[in-house]
Amino acid sequence: MVTRGTTNPNRLRRVDNWIAAHAAGALHDAADPLVIDLGYGATPVTAVELRARLARVRPDVRVVGLEIDPERVAAAEPAADPPLLTFARGGFELAGLRPVVVRALNVLRQYDEAQVAPAWATMTARLAPGGLLVEGTCDELGRLAAWVRVDHDGPRSLTLAARLSTLDTPATLAERLPKALIHHNVPGQPVYDLLRALDDGWRDAAPYATFGARQRWRRAVAAVKTGGWPVLDGPARWRLGELTVAWPAVAPSMPAKFP
Ligand SMILES: C[S@@+](CC[C@H](N)C(=O)[O-])C[C@H]1O[C@@H](n2cnc3c(N)ncnc32)[C@H](O)[C@@H]1O
Repeated sequence: MVTRGTTNPNRLRRVDNWIAAHAAGALHDAADPLVIDLGYGATPVTAVELRARLARVRPDVRVVGLEIDPERVAAAEPAADPPLLTFARGGFELAGLRPVVVRALNVLRQYDEAQVAPAWATMTARLAPGGLLVEGTCDELGRLAAWVRVDHDGPRSLTLAARLSTLDTPATLAERLPKALIHHNVPGQPVYDLLRALDDGWRDAAPYATFGARQRWRRAVAAVKTGGWPVLDGPARWRLGELTVAWPAVAPSMPAKFP
């Protein structure tokens, strides 16, 4: 599905930093450290940035930007730096490549929710062993973001990430939930409860704002964890404005079955 292709420099910095931390092991171990940026948009700027950020993890990392729109593939060509950064036409089948990491940001939001699981399955079937798909959504400047980590066994975690210096309240992250969750932010659904818990923690931690927004977020996330949510990352990630929880805790609960 070709869309407007909106993108921006640094828009995906948060997710890239998370990938650099969480895919470092898989990238180091890979015979071919191939990463795919699926749906890079009207300009290839975020693919260029992804390659630069992951080169710090492994200098020979190779990024292939794939676009469904052939005009965008042609427009990206001047930014190519083969073999480290190339562009090609491709969709969820990943052009037959076998990557260690797939980043698909702001791609599925235009699709129907029913198309998400098949798209995840098509992409993860192409992953190299130990590989991961990172699929999610963010605002135009990348201040609010949310993404799902998916691997051969299905979805594993949800990460919420915010630029803390401009964060009003964590509830605003609701607008940026990945397609698999955005329609489930309603009472009775787990992701609604998670955002409520984070919002409550943020409100209760208001006195810590004098020590900076990071301190306040750390307190809020610690409260979420104390409340029983399976928080996966620790304070080193919290201080970046992240919260990662195990997927089963936020997976949409099934609609009630009628007799
Ligand atoms: C909103 S842009 C996102 C650009 C960039 N990833 C970002 O987050 O800034 C979405 C892009 O995904 C592309 N796209 C949509 N469906 C796709 C698919 N199945 N395979 C590859 N690209 C796709 C669209 O053509 C569009 O350029």
